[in-house]
Amino acid sequence: MGDDAGVYEYGGAVWVHTVDFITPVLNDPYLWGAVSATNSLSDVYAMGGVPVSALAVVGFNNCDLEVDVFKEVMRGAVDKLREAKTVLLGGHTIDDKEPKFGLAVAGVCPDGRYVTQSGARPGQLVVLTKPIGTGVLIKGMKEGLLNEEDIAEAVENMLTLNDRASELMKSVEATACTDVTGFGLLGHAWNVCKNSEVGMRIHFENVPIYPQAVELVKKKLFPKGASDNLNFVYRHLRSELEHWKLILLSDPVTSGGLLFTVDRDKREELEGKAKELGVKVWIVGEVTGSSELEVL
Ligand code: CO
Ligand code: CO
Ligand code: CO
Repeated sequence: MGDDAGVYEYGGAVWVHTVDFITPVLNDPYLWGAVSATNSLSDVYAMGGVPVSALAVVGFNNCDLEVDVFKEVMRGAVDKLREAKTVLLGGHTIDDKEPKFGLAVAGVCPDGRYVTQSGARPGQLVVLTKPIGTGVLIKGMKEGLLNEEDIAEAVENMLTLNDRASELMKSVEATACTDVTGFGLLGHAWNVCKNSEVGMRIHFENVPIYPQAVELVKKKLFPKGASDNLNFVYRHLRSELEHWKLILLSDPVTSGGLLFTVDRDKREELEGKAKELGVKVWIVGEVTGSSELEVL
């Protein structure tokens, strides 16, 4: 698997292109639109790029009732794009029973520099910028066990652009970066390992997880994507941890944070700069010379 976005050099600029769309994750259509836009923009930020323009990718039921809902979704997305200083140039809609919404985004790397998933080096720290568990929380909402107010912190984080996290990652000269989304922390960590030909050691205790997600997973309530993700990395995984902990680390995240690797001697600089930019950081593990994902 390649990087988060395609990189292309043209006309003296380095362009980053990506597309992402999702099914509804929240009951409020405005918030769903905003979260989906944040999620779609994230791949540009993960490569160290700055988004410039976007096209909407929409699957929606064309009946009258749905039109107002759709307007709210668009309003949420446009507000988020404005925040990201990105223009919406157009889009395309198809008739679809299960609604889908997302963006194709074009961005540039201002100084011609971009960060891929292939630069991780043994000994580096592995840094994460948002908690995980949104997949489990969304499942909990769909099952009627939680409502949007219960998961306000997660909603807030899903709505947070990775723009400042990207600035942080570049300022401390991260050598590999991705964003944590559908494949879960372990899936995305493994992609970095594979692309960089290294291993990683993740410390469960250091991984930020929404408390309600922990409770639900302990009650065996989680989306199928979590077990699919765990199966995906299983052959490369070494861990004595209980199954529910590994399921949590495989949670299919929506609009998650950045996961990047940085030299150990940058730790102080990382923490200082993170505070300055208002980005939360968790050091969740380290890069190893092995070719496996070790979870302690
Ligand atoms: Co990505
Ligand atoms: Co993506
Ligand atoms: Co068209």
